[in-house]
Amino acid sequence: MALLLAIESSCDETAVAIIRGSAGQATEVLASEISSQIALHREHGGVVPELASRNHSLHLRGLVEKALADAGVTMPEIDAFAATTGPGLASSLLIGSTAAKGMACAAKRPFLGINHLEGHLLSPFLDQTSVPPHVALIVSGGHTLLLDVEGPGIYRKLGGTRDDAAGEAYDKVGKMLGLPYPGGPEIEKIARGGNPTAYDFPRSMLHEPHLDFSFSGLKTAVLYTLQKETSALPIADLAASFQQAVIDILVRKTLRAAKEAGRRRIALSGGVSLNQALRDAFREAAERDGLEISVASPVFCTDNAAMIAFAALLRHLAGESSRLDGDIHPNLPLV
Ligand code: KG4
Ligand code: ZN
Repeated sequence: MALLLAIESSCDETAVAIIRGSAGQATEVLASEISSQIALHREHGGVVPELASRNHSLHLRGLVEKALADAGVTMPEIDAFAATTGPGLASSLLIGSTAAKGMACAAKRPFLGINHLEGHLLSPFLDQTSVPPHVALIVSGGHTLLLDVEGPGIYRKLGGTRDDAAGEAYDKVGKMLGLPYPGGPEIEKIARGGNPTAYDFPRSMLHEPHLDFSFSGLKTAVLYTLQKETSALPIADLAASFQQAVIDILVRKTLRAAKEAGRRRIALSGGVSLNQALRDAFREAAERDGLEISVASPVFCTDNAAMIAFAALLRHLAGESSRLDGDIHPNLPLV
């Protein structure tokens, strides 16, 4: 049985989690604390890196203490410490990784530097210790990635975005529609009252042979429509039609990827996978094609430290650890 404490601070959420697990047994999340900075960055319309790192350092200690108290464990009982070391904002990554290294050093325990994307990737399997072969779609604010997953640590990239990430497109379209940051959850709310077929927005690259994505054409199409609209803006219809285009692209490319890779299971993770319309569309499509589907639990879709702890646990159980003099990597690729 191993007890791990992990820190996530790659962007604008400061998070600390403690999990317990062992080979072949269900993993238990004993604590998952998050201090969101969304309200702080909202007035700037996006994340301000310096504000983010300063707030990580202000909140981290309190979150570690709260996580230990909620988990009912003490620092000397922790077997290993982990932190996100990339990709993300350099100054934010430094706060979490330096804190985790400091604790590992003081407690004389191993440190594990974790790729944020591996955290998202494995989050649909957080309550298990085995990760079955599947095709994964990570859809977040910074990434849209299709991967073939043989098992933990064995990943092959099938496709990615050539311009904006899906979450980035949501956020930019949200801004155009005058909605608060981040646009994703706001568009989802407004789209519920709209007609998804009101506007026929483009589904870029859908019929091309590769598995890459492009969302900038869709974003521009929404902008042109907005500029042409003369009457009162039908925001709900615009939001619903935009969202439908995103969903169609993601679902169809992911199902095609599963077919091409010969996998019978697909998995969804990342902030955008919190979207209920997207989750419903994926479940329906998977059922139609006779595929199994694993979706990250809603609390583990957006940035959190439990997913980082889980990725670290699998590596720790496999005997891996990272060097204390290792650097952070703002552009760290997953594959
Ligand atoms: O995974 P995440 O918390 O951070 C990154 O690693 O990027 O994802 C944040 C992204 C933002 O772009 C946000 O607008 C989007 O996830 N998002 C959503 C929803 N909730 C968050 N997009 C669509 N529908 C949602 N309900
Ligand atoms: Zn993320």
